[in-house]
Amino acid sequence: MLKILHGSDFHFGRPHLPQVTLDFIRLVNNINPNVIVLSGDFTQRAKIEEYRLARSFLDSLPNIPIIVTPGNHDIPLYRLGQRLINPFRNYQEFISQELDTVTRMDGASFVALNSADPYRSIINGRINPKQLQFAANAFKGSPPGDIKVLVMHHPLVQSPDEGKHDVLPESTFLLESFSDMGVELILSGHVHRAFASYLEANIDEQRIGEAMLIVHSGTTTSNRGRVHEKRRNTLNVLELSSMDFKVNTYWYEEREGAFLTRETNIFRSRI
Ligand SMILES: [Fe+2]
Repeated sequence: MLKILHGSDFHFGRPHLPQVTLDFIRLVNNINPNVIVLSGDFTQRAKIEEYRLARSFLDSLPNIPIIVTPGNHDIPLYRLGQRLINPFRNYQEFISQELDTVTRMDGASFVALNSADPYRSIINGRINPKQLQFAANAFKGSPPGDIKVLVMHHPLVQSPDEGKHDVLPESTFLLESFSDMGVELILSGHVHRAFASYLEANIDEQRIGEAMLIVHSGTTTSNRGRVHEKRRNTLNVLELSSMDFKVNTYWYEEREGAFLTRETNIFRSRI
């Protein structure tokens, strides 16, 4: 069994909540995950002082694999010169030199793709053909039987609540491409609420499709929660086995000063 702690949208800077962050670190130490996935928006405005805080937060986490990916807030929105010339400079200096990454663990291969696009789609993001090739090559090289997990900041599907939002451009094509690569799980953020969608892509004439589970975390440590997560903080703890994927969604409860499980859903990992 592989235990993943998945949080997102930390927004170090003005919206950031330091106490919730301390309680997040406490939870990490309590539940002992095998890997931590942080799906982007480490900062609010991609400033050096925000990145310094984000770095010291990362350094305070246990010494286990930590998979990161940039969000649209991790590149400068208003400092146009910096956005055009070297948009990922601060991210690369403080969070991760690499923007697209592969992490192999016992039983699972993770590919994280940078969906933040400083030039064409500053808010909604973009995945380019080179990145798709990068993911395809990485998953092709993963050991047989590995669970293939994709991480990126932006959403490929609509959240099931009433709050509408944009999805990544060419989302249908991207979903089909990831399905072709054998991806079974996608971990994302951006929309500031937690949800899980189980869908089938590439349905053939016998109505057989490849099942994919898409899991979003809300904002884990900022006051930017949206719709029913307004001013709330969430994260997911996933337990993956060869038979099923269990998704536990935790909400921060201010009175208890802790992240507590609110919902558990079990999905089949293979059809
Ligand atoms: Fe965000």
